[in-house]
Amino acid sequence: MKITVIGSGYVGLVTGTCLAEVGNHVMCLDVDPAKIALLRAGGIPIYEPGLEDMVRRNVAAGRLSFTTDVAESVAFGEVQFIAVGTPPDEDGSADLQYVLAAARNIGRHMQEYKVVVDKSTVPVGTADKVRQAIAETLAERGVDIGYSVVSNPEFLKEGAAIEDFMKPDRIVVGAEDDLAIERMRRLYAPFQRNHERILFMDVRSAELTKYAANAMLATRISFMNELANLAETLGADIELVRQGIGSDPRIGYHFLYPGAGYGGSCFPKDVKALIATGREHGHAMRVLTAVEAANDAQKLRLVDKVVAEYGEDLSGRHFALWGLAFKPNTDDMREAPSREVVRALVSRGATVSAYDPVAADEAARVLDGTAGLTFAQDMMSALQGADALLIVTEWKMFRAPDFEALRAALKAPVIFDGRNMYDPAWVRGLGFVYHAIGR
Ligand SMILES: NC(=O)c1ccc[n+]([C@@H]2O[C@H](COP(=O)([O-])OP(=O)(O)OC[C@H]3O[C@@H](n4cnc5c(N)ncnc54)[C@H](O)[C@@H]3O)[C@@H](O)[C@H]2O)c1
Repeated sequence: MKITVIGSGYVGLVTGTCLAEVGNHVMCLDVDPAKIALLRAGGIPIYEPGLEDMVRRNVAAGRLSFTTDVAESVAFGEVQFIAVGTPPDEDGSADLQYVLAAARNIGRHMQEYKVVVDKSTVPVGTADKVRQAIAETLAERGVDIGYSVVSNPEFLKEGAAIEDFMKPDRIVVGAEDDLAIERMRRLYAPFQRNHERILFMDVRSAELTKYAANAMLATRISFMNELANLAETLGADIELVRQGIGSDPRIGYHFLYPGAGYGGSCFPKDVKALIATGREHGHAMRVLTAVEAANDAQKLRLVDKVVAEYGEDLSGRHFALWGLAFKPNTDDMREAPSREVVRALVSRGATVSAYDPVAADEAARVLDGTAGLTFAQDMMSALQGADALLIVTEWKMFRAPDFEALRAALKAPVIFDGRNMYDPAWVRGLGFVYHAIGR
C-alpha cells in the first residue's frame, strides 16, 4: 500500500518506518523543516532503540521518504495517518489544533478516496470533527470526493516502540464502513500472522479505549505510590507487598512499581484530558483527579526526603543525580520527574551534577538556564564531592554500580533512590544511608 504519515515524531516515525519495513511505501510529512532535513540526511530526531537502522534500511530500499510538502504527501497515500501532537490546552483538554490542521490539509489537496486514520490520542468525538473539517474544505473547493475516518489509537511504549508496533498485544480499530475496515485489515495483516489481534469497534469506543488504558496504568502507579508512602510510615516493605498482591492473577505484577512519579508525553496529558472530557459532560472523574494529585506530590517525594535530612535551606549542598529521562531507553524529557526534582533542589540553593546516558542533550535544552545544574560525562564523575546521590530514572547501568567507588566519590555515603534499585539490607550493610520509596 501507499501510506502517508502526518507528523514524524515518536509515533509517526515509528508507525511509518514499521509499515515500510513490511513492504509498504510510506511518506512521512512534518511541518518542522529541521526534522525533515535531519531525517533526509540519515539522522533521527529521537532516541529509540533499533529505529535508526530500520529507517536507514527502508530509505535505502526506496520504501520510506520524508517531506514537508503537504500537496505531495496528500497525493501519495491511499491511507493518511494523522500522528501529530495533542498537547494539553489550558483547561487540561486535548488541544486539537494540529489534528484539525492536518485534516484540513487532506481536504484541501485530495483528489480521490482516502482513508484518514486518527492515530494521535484524541478525545471521543474527534473523528467527527476530523470528518467535518475535511467536509468543509471539500465544500470550499466545490468538490465531492469520498473518504472514511478511522480511529486507530497507538499503544506503543517509548523505549520498546518497534517491538510494540511489530508485535502488538492488540490493534484497536474504530471504523464504521466496510471499505475502511477492509483497508485496515489489509494494512495490519502483516502484524498479526499468528493470531488475530485487531479489535474492530465503533469509533467512539476506540477513542475512549486509548484514554482508558493510560488512565488505568496511571492509576496503578499512583495507587502503589500512595501505598508505598504509607508503608514507610507503618514500617512495612512495599516491595514485599507488591509481590504479595501481584501474585493474584486478578491484579498481576505489571505496573505496580512505586517510584518518583509517572511522567512522559502520555500519562500526564491523557489523565488531564480524560478529566476534562468528564467535566465537559458533567461527570466528575474523582478517581483520576486523585491519581493526578497523588502523582504531582510523588514527583517531589525524593526532595521531601532530602529536606527531611538536610532542612529546607540547601544552600552549599551539592547533589549527584542519576537519570533525567522520564523512563529508561528514551531521551524524552516531557513531564519527567527529574525536572521537578532539579528545580526544587536548586530553588533551595543546592547545586546538582546530573548524568543520563542518552537524555542529557534534551535535558540541557528543556532545563536551559537552570542555575546550579551541570551535566556529568559519566555516572561516576557525577558523584564527585556530592552530599548524596539521587536516582530518578532506572537505567539498567545503575543496577549494579561499584558501591566502593561510589562511596569513595561521594562526600557522604547517602543514596535517595526514587526507583527502588537496590536491596535496602545490602546497601545499608555496605554502610550507606539508603532512602528508598516505601521500604
Ligand atoms: N510518544 C508516545 O509514546 C505515544 C504513544 C502513544 C500515543 N501517542 C500519541 O501520539 C500523538 C503524537 O505523539 P508524539 O509523541 O509522536 O508527538 P511528537 O511531538 O513527537 O510528534 C508530533 C509531530 O507532529 C508534527 N506536526 C504537528 N502539526 C503537523 C501538521 N499539521 N502536519 C505535519 N506534521 C505536524 C510536529 O512537528 C511533530 O514532529 C499524540 O497524540 C500522543 O498522545 C504518543
